[in-house]
Formats: sequence, C-alpha cells, structure tokens
Amino acid sequence: MTIPEFQQCKRDKKRLTVVTAYDALFARIVEQAGIEAILVGDSLGVVVQGKANTLSVTMDDMLYHTRLVAGVAQRALVIGDMPFMSYQASHEDALRNAGRFLQAGAHAVKLEGGTVAADRVAAMTCVGIPVMGHLGMTPQSVNRYGGYKVQGKELDRAQALLSDAKALEAAGAFAIVLEAIPAELAKTITEQVTIPTIGIGAGPHCDGQVLVLYDLLGLFDDFVPKFVKPYAHLKADALQALRRYKEEVEQGKFPSDSESYH
Ligand code: KIV
Repeated sequence: MTIPEFQQCKRDKKRLTVVTAYDALFARIVEQAGIEAILVGDSLGVVVQGKANTLSVTMDDMLYHTRLVAGVAQRALVIGDMPFMSYQASHEDALRNAGRFLQAGAHAVKLEGGTVAADRVAAMTCVGIPVMGHLGMTPQSVNRYGGYKVQGKELDRAQALLSDAKALEAAGAFAIVLEAIPAELAKTITEQVTIPTIGIGAGPHCDGQVLVLYDLLGLFDDFVPKFVKPYAHLKADALQALRRYKEEVEQGKFPSDSESYH
C-alpha cells in the first residue's frame, strides 16, 4: 500500500483500516488480516510500557519498535508516531526526527496538532516525508485537556477543528486521524477535505478507522473507552491458559510422554 493508493481509497469510497502494532509478531498477524496500514503508535507508552500516558515515550523507544514492525511488513503502509517533544520545539527537530523514522523503515510519520503544526507538516512534506495529522483528543495534550475528554462539542471548538483539518490538508498531510470528536463533526470534516480521515471515537462517517491493537484484541482492560470494541478476549484466554499450565505442572500432568524426549 503506497500513499497514493491509500488516498485513492477515499475517492473509491473503500473504507480503510489502520491498526497499531509494536513488534514483528503482531505486525505479521495484522498484515495477514489485510489491514491497510500499521501505526507504530506512541500508545505503546501505555499498553507496552505501562505508563499512565504517552508523554514519556522517547524517539529511541519509537525507533526500536518501528524497526521491529517495518522489518517484517511487506504490504501495509507503516506509519511512525512522532513522540512528545520530537517535533514541537523547532522545524529542525521535526525534520531530523521524522527523517529518522523513515530511515528506520517507516513510510510516513504522524504528528498531533492542527493549524499550529501546519508549518511543520509543510516542511516535512517538502522534503518528501509523508505526514499524517492527528486532531481532536490528541493524547500528548492530555494535561491541557485535564484528562481524556471528547473534543469539539462546542460550536467554536468544532469550527476550529474544521479549520485545523483544512490547514493540515493545505500543508500537504496525506491523511488525518480524528480522535474522540462528535460523529457529526467528523462527518463534516470528512466531507470537506479531500484526504482520508481515519477515526477513533469519531463515529462511522470517517474514511477509515484506527484502533489500538491490544484494545481490539481485548488484551488491555485497564480502561476501555466507549469507542473501543474488543473483537476478541485474549486477556481472558491468556489467563485461562496460564492457570491451566500452572495447574498441570503442579499436578504432574505436564509435560506428558508426548512432550518428552527419549
Ligand atoms: O498512539 C496511537 O496509538 C494513536 C492512535 C490511537 C491513533 O495515536
């Protein structure tokens, strides 16, 4: 999947699927399922590193996981998520760090922010780095929002988010993630920009959807936002398997003869 092919899906009215992955094993499974794009999300700070938010994730963390995913992905678009303070301070930081993602094997980067980030997006696009925008409940601004709260419910905020989306499009972003905003606002934005919108907690009218893999698989249940649909219950399955293993070892049932060498 190339960037032009990804964008063509909007024109063809083919809904896009994006899922996060952080390692080779899951990246292979995600690819086998035919998912169009893999986001190496900074959500790894929460689901892999066990932190309360994404703010402590570093460029080194992100590059390590990007290499693992990009090393096995053969068909899916791989998008590296720029961590907090890797692009906010200066154009130079943003360009250098985005370039490191591409050198690690990503095809594109994602960053959070609208009109304020547009200049950065334009600078990166100019040097050939495809950028995905991210608007709405942007997790790197969690402290400013006072928690993970739906954004764009008031008319002025909704209008600002629509302007942000247009600014990102004008700056050359190839797609925009819309997170935790009213479905009606996501529909308006989707209709008013020509680039794909990828929703998470933004209703059914976006051009595609993204979910955090461990949420989708029912592996992470520390908190489950309303917009998450667990398509499997792998935490429950893992617990059951581990308890059975412990029980069988304690009872001398494992290993049996068939699991032993002679
Ligand atoms: O880091 C991440 O996983 C994300 C998605 C939730 C969009 O930014």
